[in-house]
Amino acid sequence: MSMPETRLQVVFGDLRRAIDDVILKHQVTIEEVFAAIGWLQQAADSGELPAAGILFYKTALRATEGAAYAHPERDGASQWEMEGPAHRPGAPLLASPAVLPMRPDEPGEPLIVSGTVRSTMGDPLPGAILDIWQIDANRVYSGMSTADFGGLNIPNDSTGVPEFNLRGRIVADSVGRYEFRTVMPGTETLGFAHGSPLTALTQALALPGMRPLHIHSIVSAEGCVPLTTQIYFDGDPLVSGTIEGPIPLSAVKTTTLHDDPADYQARSLTVPYRTLTYDYVLRPATSAAPVPARP
Ligand SMILES: [Fe+2]
Repeated sequence: MSMPETRLQVVFGDLRRAIDDVILKHQVTIEEVFAAIGWLQQAADSGELPAAGILFYKTALRATEGAAYAHPERDGASQWEMEGPAHRPGAPLLASPAVLPMRPDEPGEPLIVSGTVRSTMGDPLPGAILDIWQIDANRVYSGMSTADFGGLNIPNDSTGVPEFNLRGRIVADSVGRYEFRTVMPGTETLGFAHGSPLTALTQALALPGMRPLHIHSIVSAEGCVPLTTQIYFDGDPLVSGTIEGPIPLSAVKTTTLHDDPADYQARSLTVPYRTLTYDYVLRPATSAAPVPARP
């Protein structure tokens, strides 16, 4: 009688077959295999091996933490996207319509994000909470230092920036609508050092080693599975692809510019602003999809 295989044996067996398939499909040579091994050695020697893991980090999270939102095309649920290392719990709770905490002279083009929160059954989700966070126009996350990014080594000096700047928990209204004002986010780097193995790899692949412009959110509502996702911006050249892989097109949104002084003055703004609509669709917790464990 044969013993059942361990998880390690099962996963390793499939990994072995996947690598074999790629090697055979593309007739990868032994010289190319040794070049890949040499690159891995350089990445390890330069301390970039943890950062290299980001190439697979998002996929692993999608298979585990994001599994409850797999196959959104089946029921119209929103696309799951990774939380990333910059989330901070305890951001100020703000009733919609809200303005994210920001400095009086906050750099960046004003942006008003609005929409609805509903379930895949079409029911509005009143009182849903949208935990929002983003990088500022100077490419800094508030309340964080470079050390908080761990092995990613992303430069982030938030000295002098209020702890919860551009972070807030927005409470949707009685019919599941929400609105918050913020500013357009800056571009977030992946922290690859100049001339490093990861920089060499991104250059060889002709892919940017940066993240597309984005705003993070975790949306929670009674009776639904919490949704972690990100909003991306149409017109940002980085949405067409970076070293981290493809961006879900359903999460790429178009902004509308409002440059009529009467319009932006009515919003108590002194400069033009943009608007964007994003409707969050959450899965009921009673669906067959597993509820992910949150740390
Ligand atoms: Fe981010």
